[in-house]
Amino acid sequence: MEKKYKELTPPQRILLGPGPSNVDPRVLKAMSMPLVGHLDPYFFEVMDEVTELLRYVFKTKNRLTIPISGTGSAGMETCLVNLVGKGDEVVVGVNGFFGQRMSEIVKRCGGTPIEVKEAWGRAISAESVEKALADSNARVVALVHAETSTGVVQPLKEISNLTRKYDALLLVDTVTSLGGVELEIDNYGVDISYSGTQKCLNCPPGLSPITLNERVVEFIRDREGKIQSWYFDLNLIEKYWEADRFYHHTAPISMIYGLREALRIIYEDGLEKRWAQHLKANKALIKGLNAMGLETLATENNLPSLTAVKIPEGVSDINVRKALLNVFNIEIGGGLGELKGKIWRIGLMGMNACERNVILVLEALDRLLRKEGFPVKPGEGLVAAMDVFQE
Ligand SMILES: Cc1ncc(COP(=O)(O)O)c(C=O)c1O
Repeated sequence: MEKKYKELTPPQRILLGPGPSNVDPRVLKAMSMPLVGHLDPYFFEVMDEVTELLRYVFKTKNRLTIPISGTGSAGMETCLVNLVGKGDEVVVGVNGFFGQRMSEIVKRCGGTPIEVKEAWGRAISAESVEKALADSNARVVALVHAETSTGVVQPLKEISNLTRKYDALLLVDTVTSLGGVELEIDNYGVDISYSGTQKCLNCPPGLSPITLNERVVEFIRDREGKIQSWYFDLNLIEKYWEADRFYHHTAPISMIYGLREALRIIYEDGLEKRWAQHLKANKALIKGLNAMGLETLATENNLPSLTAVKIPEGVSDINVRKALLNVFNIEIGGGLGELKGKIWRIGLMGMNACERNVILVLEALDRLLRKEGFPVKPGEGLVAAMDVFQE
């Protein structure tokens, strides 16, 4: 018999993992609007507004602030392929899975990563970055602001002062921070940054907002030879986003509609208010987890949008995550790389950083941990979390 393909009926999950997060219905609606061409005057207006709104969330005046077609890794690759050529040394902070990915891409660009390593769960220290800069010819320092694999936020200010001192550029991954965690590209002295749409922006995955200052634009222009990647060559992409509107590749129109709406929501809510919501939800979650006898991986520099929790001895990672999904409809993440099986990752990103989700996930964990034989006093986590919301 001929195979029948049913209409799509995906479950309505509560996405409290490392991303994607839930998408605002306003974003989905914007994405279903009629398509126009990528060289239509109407679309040019949309592009200009997206650029303005991205400058608002990145807190920057950078002229070149645009979405790259592709997910966060496409942004990572764009930044590195434009900055790094054969034989170039790059200082890379490696304190988690995404620092490792940056290091891997540097190698693929023909460069040499000078890895500044730190234990997973800790931030990179300014002293170790200074040592790497002093001992090498690196002109670029690459760091992850919000390390999604460990739940650590990287302090940037001191390191950005160092990059000025050594005449290097500071490249920062803001995939899990943009729109949810305090970040000021210009004030912090970040020269170039890439992000993703599927975390604190509550938009589906598919675009990577990037921003770069004129120091970086000049650095890229002055580089010898062509950028290895045609698709991610910022010299070419720039011409489509600037006055020339020179065709490079067909822009993902509907994704850009969606991003515009996601950014419009943050603009209406107020960026600083969003940061405060993330801080509060994160504080409540951690208080609740601690009251239940659970520990976070990070002991300082906790990332407001993502919390890594140590899985207690004798508790099954898989049993708990399966039951969360099947019984409570809640997705959380497991550990990546060396933390596989050792932690859970709970994301409270964008509109998901709210009281309802904190209570839901704590209540579900309360029940499932008791089922696993872990001694939790019923309701203790909830009470501790609710105290924070009532402050
Ligand atoms: C910090 C960080 N950087 C980069 C990426 C890669 O993004 P993507 O999976 O969208 O390609 C992720 C994805 O989770 C991330 O969390």
